[in-house]
Amino acid sequence: MDLADVERARRRRELVVLEGFHAVKHAIRFGGEILATFTADAAELEDLRARLAPDIELAVQVVAADDLRRVVPRAQVVAVATRPVQPDPDTVLAGAGHVVLLEDPRHLGNLGAAVRVAAAAGAAGVMTTGRQDPWHPDALRGSAGLHFALPVHHLHAVRTQGRELVALDPDGEPLRPGMLPGAAVLAFGTERDGLSDGLLQRADRRIALPMTPGVSSLNLATAVAATLYALKLGG
Ligand SMILES: C[S@@+](CC[C@H](N)C(=O)[O-])C[C@H]1O[C@@H](n2cnc3c(N)ncnc32)[C@H](O)[C@@H]1O
Repeated sequence: MDLADVERARRRRELVVLEGFHAVKHAIRFGGEILATFTADAAELEDLRARLAPDIELAVQVVAADDLRRVVPRAQVVAVATRPVQPDPDTVLAGAGHVVLLEDPRHLGNLGAAVRVAAAAGAAGVMTTGRQDPWHPDALRGSAGLHFALPVHHLHAVRTQGRELVALDPDGEPLRPGMLPGAAVLAFGTERDGLSDGLLQRADRRIALPMTPGVSSLNLATAVAATLYALKLGG
């Protein structure tokens, strides 16, 4: 593989482009199959690896800095990996743990940050609807590569497999400890407009993270983080 293959990989569904050290690190740590890794500064990358991730091994191809910048303007390292085979959505929904559903998230950094906290908090998976590909390189950068740590799927229509569908909505009932036992589908809305009327009507309940009067809402990824950790720590 050479740098030109990175551009080709962006158009191939079976491949994933990882931009930045943390994305590459987590992909390796969670069993990703890395096909090629490129950097312009092998010594600096080795220093990062030794300091931040001595548990992983990196095999890199060194390329000219200008060539790398043309392919990835913001990263010192880029890798191409095989898109992992993950349990399908119905298998995830049939298992244990809360599933995070992001309805039409627009901002790929937010989407990635939601995947990151879902992985950290031990959610069963993340499912998205709408226009964005959750495996876009910018989302992988936002998740620091933690897409490799749990199933991440794009759905054409919301599925719950009989699980309780919980709408996280600033106008819902305030979240209290013990309110959500078991494994639910936790639905979060799009950044500007929140959850659609269709999803709100379909939801079994609407729950709010209490906020100081005057604050309208939390950022999407922050709302996912606060909800998952409230539930994890006894909510
Ligand atoms: C930036 S907010 C959307 C704001 C939108 N104007 C609204 O009122 O829903 C994105 C999503 O984060 C979740 N969210 C944000 N703040 C929340 C809160 N206090 N309680 C529950 N969910 C919240 C909701 O799922 C919301 O759809």
